[in-house]
Amino acid sequence: ASTRTPLMAGNWKMNLDHHQATHLVQKLAWTLGDAKHDYTGVEVVVAPSFTNLRSVQTLVDADRLGIRYASQDVSAHASGAYTGEVSASQLAKLGVTYAIIGHSERRQFHAEDDAVVNAKSKAALGEGIVPLVCVGEGLDVRQAGEQVPYTLAQVDGAFDGISADDAATIVVAYEPVWAIGTGEVATPEDAQEVCAAIRVRLSELYSPEVAGAVRVLYGGSVKSGNVAAIMAKPDVDGALVGGASLDADEFAAIVRYQQ
Ligand code: G3P
Repeated sequence: ASTRTPLMAGNWKMNLDHHQATHLVQKLAWTLGDAKHDYTGVEVVVAPSFTNLRSVQTLVDADRLGIRYASQDVSAHASGAYTGEVSASQLAKLGVTYAIIGHSERRQFHAEDDAVVNAKSKAALGEGIVPLVCVGEGLDVRQAGEQVPYTLAQVDGAFDGISADDAATIVVAYEPVWAIGTGEVATPEDAQEVCAAIRVRLSELYSPEVAGAVRVLYGGSVKSGNVAAIMAKPDVDGALVGGASLDADEFAAIVRYQQ
């Protein structure tokens, strides 16, 4: 529905040990096929734990397979005495293309607010890593019918002070918290409503060109059986997939949603 490149990202969260992660990425590469490219035009991304990034890096030939990898977080700090943090420059040296920032699980369990999301996005951009910024409302907000203003406030916070050139590269993932890991997938219309509102807000904050360039993904109980209907919506440019990305066949089927 648009000229934007569809992006299918698998967020492995805090799952898989070293052996399982290397096995999964190899199986995914094999399942997607070396030369078949029946997912031509779709960008494929996997997001392993920090401990497994290096192993995945050695196994994934991004140029040949078109599989890129993301970190699940990034420090807002550049370097130095920040025990436990991983910097954007460290990730850039590992060839990480994207950094998931502000996932609802980090907002909920690690007290990340919009200011932190903004700082982390700037840190990533400074090292050439593309922020994959997560936004989305909880069940109480959805039941109050406030999902659009709530989510747009998160968008405003994430993009604060970011230039138009940088903003155009950012990926936004709309993940309604009530649909994550619950099997409660949002309807395609629910996804379109908020994804379209995000694009309108980006047009207001920047320009129609920037809004037209930014990819907006949907996330929350995406499976091979529901992805095509969601992708048919004009403002949904891809999916951020949790549970279903841990199965190579299922994630490959999601990547091949056009088949
Ligand atoms: O980041 C992806 C995510 O939170 C969705 O998880 O398991 O509902 O696909 P899941």
